Amino acid sequence: MKLSIRSIFKKRETFSECPPADKLPAHIAFIMDGNGRWAKKRGLPRSAGHAAGTEALREIIRTCSDIGIKHMSIYAFSTENWNRPKDEVDALMKLITRYFKSEIDELTEKNVRITILGGLDAFPPEQKQELISAMERTKNNTGLKLNIALNYGGRAEILSCVKEIARESAQGALDPEAITYDTISDRLYTKGQPDVDLLIRTGGDERISNFLLWQTWYAELIFEKTYWPDYSKERLFADLNVYAGRERRFGRTDAK
Ligand code: IPE
Ligand code: IPE
Ligand code: MG
Repeated sequence: MKLSIRSIFKKRETFSECPPADKLPAHIAFIMDGNGRWAKKRGLPRSAGHAAGTEALREIIRTCSDIGIKHMSIYAFSTENWNRPKDEVDALMKLITRYFKSEIDELTEKNVRITILGGLDAFPPEQKQELISAMERTKNNTGLKLNIALNYGGRAEILSCVKEIARESAQGALDPEAITYDTISDRLYTKGQPDVDLLIRTGGDERISNFLLWQTWYAELIFEKTYWPDYSKERLFADLNVYAGRERRFGRTDAK
């Protein structure tokens, strides 16, 4: 039996059932945080934490796809993460490329459609091509829409949308009075997808860190102490049950 680095350290957790389909979020987002601390706690290099994190990611994508979630966004690399030491950035880039190579067949087979959120021009040509071909190859898939945020920043996304709108207005193609929320939503990487219903951040920190700022406007937030490599199907089901029990009022006095 092949033992992965994560399974060696994984604790047994109590199983809880997934809520019924009508109680599930249409769009779930994850800030996959805590890889470095997971590794440090075990005396391993940070890169081992990132590698273990990809195993958790595989389990969570599979589960979201199996239970019928329609949209899933994952924060893999932020515009701010370029400020990390070069060796960590290089290790992350290698891991991301390896991840795409090893997972694309299963994702294609599982009918998953991949969208990259973020500027692709920041990546070396070969890696950029890999990312474009993952989107191309899965573009007709009708199952889980998987958004992978890479070189992504919520502010950068909104700024480029504002520039586009300003350009169109200056050219007379867009009447400023006719600008609606949809005018903005339609110019974001998540165009055509519903806003985030549930945002889960692992790792214990309670902040958004520039992720999907526009799309999370009314999202339910869950902050998990669990480090991402320890995040599991069981934890996800527990979080989905918490979400199912929340009352979403959207400013009203009772739930919609
Ligand atoms: C999240 O884990 C992964 C990325 C940001 C790529 P971290 O690397 O931020 O892990 P911690 O927060 O230092 O533990
Ligand atoms: C957020 O984690 C980015 C990703 C998970 C990719 P960070 O670890 O970079 O966030 P901060 O810096 O602690 O807010
Ligand atoms: Mg972190």
